[in-house]
Amino acid sequence: MEQILDLLLFCASILLIIGLRKLSNPASASKGNLIAAVALGLGVLVSILYPVVTDDNNYLIIVIGISIGAIIGIISSHRVQMTKMPEMVSLLNGFGGLAAALVSLVWLINNDFSGETGQLVIVLLNLFLGFVAFLGSLIAYGKLSGKIQDKHLRISFSTLINITLLVVAISAMIFFSISGNLSITHLCVFIALSLLYGFIFVAPIGGADMPVVISLLNSLTGITAAISGIMTDNKLMLLGGVLVGSSGIILTLLMCKAMNRSLLSVIFGNFSSSKGGESSVDGDVKEINPSDLAIQLAYSSRVCIIPGYGMAVAQAQKTIKDLESVLESNDVEFKYAIHPVAGRMPGHMNVLLAEADISYDKLLDLEEANDYLASTDVAIVVGANDVVNPSALEDPTSKIYGMPILELSKTKSVVVLKRSMKPGYAGIQNPLFFKDNTKMLFGDAKESIELILRELKDL
Ligand code: TAP
Repeated sequence: MEQILDLLLFCASILLIIGLRKLSNPASASKGNLIAAVALGLGVLVSILYPVVTDDNNYLIIVIGISIGAIIGIISSHRVQMTKMPEMVSLLNGFGGLAAALVSLVWLINNDFSGETGQLVIVLLNLFLGFVAFLGSLIAYGKLSGKIQDKHLRISFSTLINITLLVVAISAMIFFSISGNLSITHLCVFIALSLLYGFIFVAPIGGADMPVVISLLNSLTGITAAISGIMTDNKLMLLGGVLVGSSGIILTLLMCKAMNRSLLSVIFGNFSSSKGGESSVDGDVKEINPSDLAIQLAYSSRVCIIPGYGMAVAQAQKTIKDLESVLESNDVEFKYAIHPVAGRMPGHMNVLLAEADISYDKLLDLEEANDYLASTDVAIVVGANDVVNPSALEDPTSKIYGMPILELSKTKSVVVLKRSMKPGYAGIQNPLFFKDNTKMLFGDAKESIELILRELKDL
C-alpha cells in the first residue's frame, strides 16, 4: 500500500511540473492550471491516505480541517472580483506561511529534539520564515487593498531595527539548537520575535516598491513549504515548495531589476519610502474627445496600448481587443507595451490580455517597447500611471527615481485614459499629463474605448 501511495505521489509530482510548465504560456495556461490542481488534489488525497499506512489516523481532524478550508475557499473564490485577485493571492500566500510554521510548531511540541542540532535549526528556521511570510503577507494584503495606508506605518530607524531583529532571531536559532534548551516560554518569545520581524520587514515598504516584497514573500512561503515537505517526508510538498521558492527568487530578482533596486536593499528595508517629498507639477492639461481620437487613430500607422491597473479596474481588455481588430482591418499596426510591475501582481497585464485572446506576439517588454514607442504615432495609456511617470527619469527627489519606465517623450501623440487627475499607487503626481504631446480622455477606460469604437465605425 505504501509503495502504491509513493507511486501516486510521484505521478502527482510529474503532473505538477507539467502543469507549471504549461502555465508559462498564455495559450496553455488554463490547461496548466487544471493539471496542477489535479496534481495537488492527488497530493492531498495521498497525504490523507498515508496515516492508514502509518497507523496514525486522525480522520476527524483532517475532515474538519479540509471542510472548513474548502468552504472558505469556495465562498471566497466566488465572491472575489478580478481586481481583488492580487489581495487574495497575498492572503493565500500568508496562510501558506502560517501552515508551514504550524508544521514546525507541532514537530517541536511532539518531538524530543535534544542532540538534534542540525534538525532543530532547520525546524526553527521554518518556524521563523513561516511567521514572517504570514504577517508580512497580511500587511501586504492590507496595503494592496488600501486598508492600510503607508502613512500609518512610518517607523523611525526601521533599517536598524530590521537588522537587529534579524541578528537576534539568527542568534536565538543557533543558541536554542546547540543548547537544546527550548521551553514553551522560549518558543512563545521566538514566535513573537518572528512576527515582529515580519511586521518590521514589510511595514516601511511602500508605494511603488511593493512588487519586490510581494515576490520575496512568495518565495519565502515556497521555501517554508519545501522545509515542511522534508519534515513530513512529503515529496510532493518538497517539490512544490522548491518550485515556488526558486521561481519566487527569480521573480524577485526580475522585480528588483524592474524597480532598479538591489536585493540587499530590499532585505534590509532600505526602500524608497524613506525618500523626500514630491515636487509639485504645474501646467495645463489638454483634453481630447473620443471623436477626435478616433480620427487620429484611423490615420495612424502605428498604435501602442500601455495597459495599467486601471485597465483591470475597468475590465477594458476585451474592448481593447475590439479596437485592435477594427484598426488592424484599417492596416494600422497595433502593439502592447507591458511594464513588468504594471497592475498589482506579477504578470497581471499578461493574464488579462491573454483572457481577451490578444496574441502574445503583440506584447512588447520594457526594452522592446521603449524602442517601439519612439516611432509610434499614438500611444494610448489605459489606466496606467506610475509606470509611465517621467519623474522616475527626471526628478532625483522623486520616490520612484531610478525606476525604469515606459518612455513616451519621443512618441508623436500620447492619450491617457483615466477618470481623474488622481495619482496612481505610488501616490505621486505625474508630469506626463502636462507634456506637450499628451492629451487626456477622462472617464472609465472601457466606456471611453467603446465611444472611440463607435466613432471609428461611423467614419
Ligand atoms: P497605477 O500607478 O496604480 O495607476 C492606475 C491608474 O488607473 C490610476 O491613476 C487611476 O486613475 C486609473 N484608473 C483606475 N480605475 C480606472 C478606470 N476604471 N478607468 C480608467 N482609469 C482608471 O497603475 P500602474 O501604472 O499599472 O502601476 C502599478 C503600480 O502598482 C506601481 O506603482 C507598482 O509598483 C505598484 N504595484 C505593483 C505590483 C505588481 S507586482 N505589479 C504590486 C503592488 C504594487 P483614476 O483614479 O484617475 O482613474
